[in-house]
Amino acid sequence: MSAVIIDGREMSRKIRISIRRRVDLIRKQTGKTIGLAVVLVGDDPASAIYVRGKQRDCEKVGIASSVIRMPAASGTRDVEAAVRELNADASIHGILVQFPLPAGLDSNAIIQTIDPTKDVDGFHVVNCGMLLSGVGNPMIPCTPLGIVEMIRSTDRDMTGSHAVVVGRSNLVGKPVSLLLQRENATVTMCHSRTVDLAEHTRRADILVVAAGRRGLVTGDMVKHGAVVIDVGMNRDGDRVVGDVDFDSAAKRAGWITPVPGGVGPMTRAILLQNTLQAFKRNG
Ligand code: GUN
Repeated sequence: MSAVIIDGREMSRKIRISIRRRVDLIRKQTGKTIGLAVVLVGDDPASAIYVRGKQRDCEKVGIASSVIRMPAASGTRDVEAAVRELNADASIHGILVQFPLPAGLDSNAIIQTIDPTKDVDGFHVVNCGMLLSGVGNPMIPCTPLGIVEMIRSTDRDMTGSHAVVVGRSNLVGKPVSLLLQRENATVTMCHSRTVDLAEHTRRADILVVAAGRRGLVTGDMVKHGAVVIDVGMNRDGDRVVGDVDFDSAAKRAGWITPVPGGVGPMTRAILLQNTLQAFKRNG
C-alpha cells in the first residue's frame, strides 16, 4: 500500500482564493483594507524568510501587511510598547510577534500584551483558555487548525478514532490535542519522556508528529491505513525534512503530509484566515 499525499500547497491555494474573494468583498462593501502587522525582532535569517513569505501571502489576497523591525538588543519593554501601539492602531486588525525572539526577551510577557482579538497566532492566554474551556470564540493557533483541515480532507472520520500526538508544545501539541478532542477523537499525548513511543504510535488512526526530531517516526511505527501529519521542519544540509521518515511511513499510512509542501503552506493560509476573522471582530 502507498499513502495518498495530502497536498498542503494545493489546499492552501484554494483557501487563498476564497480569502481573496472575501477580502475584495469587504473592500467593496466597507471601503476598508484588512491589515496584519508582524513584529520581527533581531536578525534571525530563518525568521526573516518566514516573514517575507507571510508578506507575499498577504499581498496575494489583498491584505495589507506591515513589518515592524526591531533591533536584537531591544528590551522586553520596547517590544511590549510596539505591540501596544499596534493594539491601538485601528488600521491593524491582526498582530503577530515572530518567534523565536532573541535570548533575554520575555516571550510570554510580550504575547500577553497583544489584544486577544488581534492575536492571529492564538497564543494569548485568553485565547488558549477559551479553547481549553470551550467557552467563547477564540483565535485558534494556525498550525493546529491547518492540521485538522488536512485530516478533514481525508475520508477518515475523526469521531471515535484514536489520535496520537507526539510533542506537547503550546504552539502545536497541546492545542491540536484539544481540537482533536473537539472532533470526538480519543487522544493520546506522547512526548520526549514517553516510554516505548512506538507502542503508542502503532495504535494511532491519526498520528500527528510535532516533536522537532528528524526521522523520529519510521514506517514500522505507523499503523496500516493511518493518517500521518508531519509537523517537523528540520534542516538536513540544504533540505528541510520532517519528523517522519517519509518513504517508509508512506508504505504503511493511508494518507501522509510531505515536508516541505504539507503543514507549512497550510499554516500560512490559516494565518490569512485568522486575520480575516480578526477583522470581523474588530474591523
Ligand atoms: N515561528 C515559527 N512558527 C511560528 C508561528 O506559528 N507563529 C509565530 N509568531 N512565530 C513562529
